[in-house]
Amino acid sequence: LTLARFVDPLPRPVVAQPVRHLEQPQWPGRSLACYRIEARAFRRPLHRDLAPTLQWGYDGRVPGPTLETRSGEPILVEWVNGLPARHFLPIDHTVHGAEKTVPEVRTVTHVHGARAPAGSDGYPEDWYPPGHGRRYLYPNGQDAATLWYHDHAMGITRLNIYAGLFGSFIIRDASEQALGLPTGERDLPLLLADRLIGRDGSLYYPVSDDPSAPWVPECHGHAILCNGMLYPYLEVEPGAYRLRLGNVANTSFFNLSLSHGLDMQQIGSDQGLLAAPLASRQIELYPAERADVVIDFSALAGQAVELRHQGQAIMQFRVAAKTPAKALVLPAKLHDIARIPASQAVRERQLVIGEQDDPTGSPLTMLLDGKRWSDPVTEKPRQHSTEIWSFVNITGDAHPMHLHLVRFQLLDRRPFDLFTWNARRELVYTGPAQPPEPHEAGWKDTVRADPGMVTRIIMRFEGEPGHYVWHCHFLEHEDNEMMRPYELLPAKA
Ligand code: C2O
Ligand code: CU
Repeated sequence: LTLARFVDPLPRPVVAQPVRHLEQPQWPGRSLACYRIEARAFRRPLHRDLAPTLQWGYDGRVPGPTLETRSGEPILVEWVNGLPARHFLPIDHTVHGAEKTVPEVRTVTHVHGARAPAGSDGYPEDWYPPGHGRRYLYPNGQDAATLWYHDHAMGITRLNIYAGLFGSFIIRDASEQALGLPTGERDLPLLLADRLIGRDGSLYYPVSDDPSAPWVPECHGHAILCNGMLYPYLEVEPGAYRLRLGNVANTSFFNLSLSHGLDMQQIGSDQGLLAAPLASRQIELYPAERADVVIDFSALAGQAVELRHQGQAIMQFRVAAKTPAKALVLPAKLHDIARIPASQAVRERQLVIGEQDDPTGSPLTMLLDGKRWSDPVTEKPRQHSTEIWSFVNITGDAHPMHLHLVRFQLLDRRPFDLFTWNARRELVYTGPAQPPEPHEAGWKDTVRADPGMVTRIIMRFEGEPGHYVWHCHFLEHEDNEMMRPYELLPAKA
């Protein structure tokens, strides 16, 4: 598939508009903005020279409309399943939760990174079939951050997100606003996802050799969509732009850089601003990770700059041939990030990321701590308590680990001896603990657990008691047992 580069304008996701405002008796003068967003099938070309592609999108768009919110101001969203009764991607009915006894098309929306009550979090088993919906309340009691929403239906999340069910959810706050960062036209999400696309423009999802069990452990595309388009371009002024980069791919990571050796100033990660801007030539994003960057085009008036993944073009910025605006000087300090001292943790949980032990099962199944989704809940942190979770990765690959509800800090990664682990289930370290890299030193909600390493994160469990999940964010893994429930217990009286 060879397509002309940079012939389509970059789509800017539309901003969702409330359908009404509800008066709030408990806050005189303040009202609750209510939205209605419907997942629908539609056809739209991914490129000028391709036929329209069947996709599923929120409000018939990929990405869906951006939810623009403010810290401390709750919103209500009515998520509606307006999808057809049949899926267009290969369902594996042997995967847990996708049996032939449940409706084939199901959806439930999760806002990734939101501190939402359990009943609004999009628990994977809370899916609903076409013609149904749910009203979810998002309190937004958290710092400014670039979150994203996506489908989370048990056993078919990988297919639903691949079909296009994702969008941005932005939280702003006053302290961020005071920093003078680029706004308006110059502040936009760039959601990146790779896809396999046929000559006729159709989306292709890979299958195994077993037609009765088509699940595959990974899905890598040959082309990268940026806000739902292939090789788009964006006309920019010779000035500074804030781009909210997000990896919404199933399994692929992106290693992003700009042509002309241009630096990006990373100002934020998953859960909001970093302590200080960080100049980066390259930014690596695993699935579900975000990087908020400022790019200053003022020195490149009249030129074209490419955003690339390992040398492969993703999109182009066309800088207008105009007298540049004064180069933007970012504040030296962006945000206070108090490190959580490890001594505050009341509990350290050792959680193994590994292949399953059961010799009768499929050798490909990867499990969290040797347990399946349906095994009893084992992680039951208490509200307001601090815990350390140590991911002991005994597989050969990195896995992006994510917890719902909470933000966390990466403490360290430390190499250990796999041989001793396999022989005696004993951790023998083979090197010193490595502190987080500067771009990982802010608040996170998804972290790379490297192979042969123990990755430790620390978090305080704020939020409402109830059932949430933690999982690998490789969507193929998450769908096939690499996801576990956890229960937040109420604080001790
Ligand atoms: Cu991005 Cu459980 O989710
Ligand atoms: Cu995984």
